[in-house]
Amino acid sequence: PFGHMPNSYYMDPSDPCYDVCHRLITDMTKFGVCVLDNFLGKEKGLLVRNEVLEMYRLGIFTAGQLVSNPGSTEAQTVRSDLITWIDGKEPHCQYIKQLITQVDNIVLRANKMANNGRLGDYFINGRTKAMVACYPGSGSHYVKHVDNPNKDGRCITAIYYLNLDWDVKSCGGLLRVFPEGQNQVADIAPIFDRMLFFWSDRRNPHEVQPAYRTRYAITLWYFDHQEREEALRKYREVPKKNFFSSFFSIVPSAC
Ligand code: OGA
Ligand code: OGA
Ligand code: MN
Repeated sequence: PFGHMPNSYYMDPSDPCYDVCHRLITDMTKFGVCVLDNFLGKEKGLLVRNEVLEMYRLGIFTAGQLVSNPGSTEAQTVRSDLITWIDGKEPHCQYIKQLITQVDNIVLRANKMANNGRLGDYFINGRTKAMVACYPGSGSHYVKHVDNPNKDGRCITAIYYLNLDWDVKSCGGLLRVFPEGQNQVADIAPIFDRMLFFWSDRRNPHEVQPAYRTRYAITLWYFDHQEREEALRKYREVPKKNFFSSFFSIVPSAC
């Protein structure tokens, strides 16, 4: 049933999703990175931000781990963010849940609209939980890395930034992407209501430069059906700690 939906998915240009899906397809195809500003609009963005700030105040954030080496103290020199994973069903996160649903819809519909049913060469059918991350200032950072260097199934990284009046000169905290095979970098400021997408694999090494003010973001990783199945098969043979155990199946609806 997968991978064969030739031209079966037509989106009307008057569909409110159309422009955003179109941008996602063209920018990912050309650059492997796509930045969408004013993603939710100020009002909704602020509601999401307030939920994240409230969660942070509750003290449920813990030190970020390394997928490759979970539980190690090496992690803290590599990344000094504090994170919490949420599925959107927790109390007091209805606006975060709405954000997640909106990103799901865009990614899925773009995936179906693109390239005879494919965005890149993927068939996206699920994602991880949402990772809510806080870099608590004081030079907190994440050194240059690749999210998915070893085919764990994740194909697209999607990050929503929540930082009002973020001045890169004084606050730092740039995301710098080093696209493979190019002698140029892409610097992305983590500004309020900005949505960012990039291929999660070795095409996009990236770093979070030291942040000198509290920096919040919400990240989702989308799974390619086939790569995820192969990763699961390998994982059953050689279990690894901290494999992405949770899987949320996604189906598109209106934007
Ligand atoms: C990550 C990451 C980038 C950012 O958590 O893997 O690279 O801008 N985050 O927060
Ligand atoms: C998950 C999960 C965390 C990780 O199972 O979705 O929370 O770093 N994974 O692998
Ligand atoms: Mn990363």
